[in-house]
Amino acid sequence: MLQLPVATLLLLLSTSLCAAADPLHIPIGRRKSPRDLDHSDHLAAAEFMRMRYGFGNTTTPSTKRMQRRGSSEALPFVNQGGDSSYFGTVDIGTPPQSFNLILDTGSSDLWVADTSCQTCSQSTPVFNHASSSTFQVSTEQQTIMYGSGQVTGTISQESVSMGSFSFGKQGFLAAQTTSRNLLTGTVSGIMGLAFSALSATQTTPFWQNLVAQNQLESTEMGFWLSRFRGTKFTEEEPGGSFTLGGTNATFFTGDIEFLPMVGSSPPAFWQLGMEEITVQGNQLGLSVTGSQAPSAIDTGTTLIGGPSADVAALWGQIQGSEPMPTMPGFFQYPCSTSLQISLSFGGKLWPINPADLNIGSGTQPSSCVGGIFDLTQGSNIADNGGNPIWVVGDTFLKNVYTVFKQGSPNQIGFAQLSQAAGGGSGTPGVGNTPAAGNNSKGNGSVKGMLASPLAAVLALGTVLTLCL
Ligand SMILES: *[C@@H]1O[C@H](CO)[C@@H](O)[C@H](O)[C@H]1NC(C)=O
Ligand SMILES: *[C@@H]1O[C@H](CO)[C@@H](O)[C@H](O)[C@H]1NC(C)=O
Ligand SMILES: *[C@@H]1O[C@H](CO)[C@@H](O)[C@H](O)[C@H]1NC(C)=O
Ligand SMILES: *[C@@H]1O[C@H](CO)[C@@H](O)[C@H](O)[C@H]1NC(C)=O
Repeated sequence: MLQLPVATLLLLLSTSLCAAADPLHIPIGRRKSPRDLDHSDHLAAAEFMRMRYGFGNTTTPSTKRMQRRGSSEALPFVNQGGDSSYFGTVDIGTPPQSFNLILDTGSSDLWVADTSCQTCSQSTPVFNHASSSTFQVSTEQQTIMYGSGQVTGTISQESVSMGSFSFGKQGFLAAQTTSRNLLTGTVSGIMGLAFSALSATQTTPFWQNLVAQNQLESTEMGFWLSRFRGTKFTEEEPGGSFTLGGTNATFFTGDIEFLPMVGSSPPAFWQLGMEEITVQGNQLGLSVTGSQAPSAIDTGTTLIGGPSADVAALWGQIQGSEPMPTMPGFFQYPCSTSLQISLSFGGKLWPINPADLNIGSGTQPSSCVGGIFDLTQGSNIADNGGNPIWVVGDTFLKNVYTVFKQGSPNQIGFAQLSQAAGGGSGTPGVGNTPAAGNNSKGNGSVKGMLASPLAAVLALGTVLTLCL
């Protein structure tokens, strides 16, 4: 969820045309010692996802309200909390103040903690609106609801930029209160990278403003999310890659397999139809009425969440697994089991590294908690019309290069990670060459319905219901 000014824009436009700007380097504060993720983080993350996607207890205002050549640029990217979130640097105001904001394809608002924030931690860098000459004073209060938390502030307009891209009157929320634990480390807010229909502040997301102004060489955003899980890490590790206005071939090999988005019109979430999940080589048979489960592709959430029945069936395939007594919706499994779980999109199976599926210790010494949890908790998901019922977060996205592409239709693409990005033989935890992407026709590993994946997605996107 994020946002920028106009006077500077013309200026920047002209320079961005020719300059393939150098990556920016930002000083990153690090804590000294590595830490283990705490399960309270996971519970909070799960609740966050439930609320965001309309499965929470409190009613979240739903999302349902629901050429000139430019340039592309690789922007510095940091992995926070052992793959918990990924942030980049955004400049706000005049003169610019730099902030670390989570780059979030699952939301569409830009907000940053303001100097007036009373609930923010002392260590959170805050935006000093008084020292910006382009800040538009406003009294319009707005609240953005997230899981167990919320952010309240005033909707304003400001000059916002990332690298050499800039927008002069970007709508954003200067946050005066945020719930506890919403911001950690050096992060000051969120840059939403989904579509404007999803914006609680009813503002156009930064990236869409750039597209409208033809600032981007192509209407693409490319992500490689680095992996520190399973290794020692500090709280904030430079790593991963975010490219605005294109992709970066350093991080993938082969083709990017683009698929048309499914879901509501106008678009809100970035979402694809997921056809199948395989567990230890067996197809699960997702409980969707059509052939595909609408699934948000969400860089801003850590884990993978899905409908109760499917998640229970998935863990039912793992011998010795059981619901985690202390964490509703989560499951634990014997740590000695190497989880072989793949998601299928567009007829290709994309495996998840077992290291990404293990999110820490269970209630017994030999048990581990799995990174796929019950998102819907028995909610009537058939009513989630147009919204996703699976949320595919970083647990999966670390295993592929992901490209979000605006167009007609909007598309999301996955590619195999390059060796430089940890793919192929460079991947620890074997069995996981993210690439193999077994083709259904040849190997019969995916449902036969995938013969014409694109047609199927287009036809089924809006009529999915679940058999509970
Ligand atoms: C949601 O509501 C159910 C039923 O009232 C309750 O059991 C559950 O604990 C609630 N969950 C949260 C996170 O409040
Ligand atoms: C791709 O990423 C590499 C490594 O971060 C960087 O050096 C290079 O400039 C990037 N290429 C493009 C075209 O952005
Ligand atoms: C691809 O298919 C082959 C043969 O069916 C199987 O042995 C292999 O594990 C599959 N690879 C993936 C990544 O699913
Ligand atoms: C089937 O799987 C094998 C081994 O993974 C692979 O070499 C072959 O190309 C696959 N066939 C098709 C049609 O994808």
